[in-house]
Amino acid sequence: MFLTTEEERMLAGEEGRATRKAMQILVALGEIYGAERLVEVSSVQVSGVSYKNLGDAGLEFLDELAADGRARVKTTLNPAGMSLTDWKSQGIQPSFAEKQLRVVDAYRRLGIEISCTCTPYLAGNEPEFGQHIAWGESSAVAYANSVIGARTNREGGPSALAAGLTGRTPLYGLHLQKNRVPTLTVDVGVPLGSPEDFTAMGYAVGKMVPDGIPLFRGIRMASLEDLKTLSAALASSGGVAMFHIAGLTPESKAEPASAERAAFSSKDLEEARASLDDEGVPDFVSVGCPHCSLTELAALARLLKGATVKKEFWVCCSREVKRRSDEAGLSKWIEESGAKFALDTCMVVAPVEELGYRVVATNSAKACHYLRNAGLRVRFMSLEDCVAEAIRGR
Ligand code: F3S
Repeated sequence: MFLTTEEERMLAGEEGRATRKAMQILVALGEIYGAERLVEVSSVQVSGVSYKNLGDAGLEFLDELAADGRARVKTTLNPAGMSLTDWKSQGIQPSFAEKQLRVVDAYRRLGIEISCTCTPYLAGNEPEFGQHIAWGESSAVAYANSVIGARTNREGGPSALAAGLTGRTPLYGLHLQKNRVPTLTVDVGVPLGSPEDFTAMGYAVGKMVPDGIPLFRGIRMASLEDLKTLSAALASSGGVAMFHIAGLTPESKAEPASAERAAFSSKDLEEARASLDDEGVPDFVSVGCPHCSLTELAALARLLKGATVKKEFWVCCSREVKRRSDEAGLSKWIEESGAKFALDTCMVVAPVEELGYRVVATNSAKACHYLRNAGLRVRFMSLEDCVAEAIRGR
């Protein structure tokens, strides 16, 4: 693989041990995938932050890099396993908290913004059309490629971190135009009226195209919230890192429909929704997977104003969106109801299963998928029904 003089210097360790390690990771990846060279990236999103997933080996790796490594481009962080400030009220054990704070401290020393959100594009890390980036949060990867038109592969924790420390990533996969064409055309024959419809459809289609690129036809409108949850669902049941929606997403016009065809009907939607719903009375309610937008917080404020929630209710969002919600006078209606903002974290990366909850109500297919994997039962419902469930009590 061709390396510039500066990249050769990094690989030789002339810019420190962490940069050499990072360059070794990128060169190895590039050689595996046949990249001709590296490309400069304008931003990085690092995943692999929760101590629940990293463990002691991950913490040790980060500590080692933090000895002399520093991010060279804007680099933001995925959610951690707890709120960095309110972990006690979340019921998190001190032993877990101590390790999680050490993980975050290592990232801080690496010069990474402690944004702790999976929606960096709503919180100051906003790439532009055509820019090369290296993001490691699967829902944000699908959103960035599809909705923004930026270019990123689905990076793992180490490769995203390596991109942050060098400002580069191997030029292969979705960085190349030829790999951004649809592999399956999905004719959507049912009107999608809510984010829950989009997330359920995404979950079903993600299973059909495990790592392909679907082109949806027949969708007339989609809100940011619809696209955000569609991205997450497609990336959780499958490995989808990009999709097109004819007439809506920026690269859909440039690409011909795939000869491979599938249809998605009202029956498919009904089945998809039903497949996400288990039985049982929820003892925990959580929304914000991916992290809530300001529009979602406005809807929650409207629904919760004057009400009292009787179940543990987490509203997951970034500190930046919460700040805007404070400014807009929305947060107080949510907090006065007893619902809790879960900042820096979410219902999936926090060890919710260890907090004694058994059945979680949520409006996200991605959350349903991962909560089930953690041994919990899930009730899939709309944002409005999540609020009603939390207010109703047992
Ligand atoms: Fe974000 Fe957690 Fe869902 S990281 S996409 S809220 S699983």
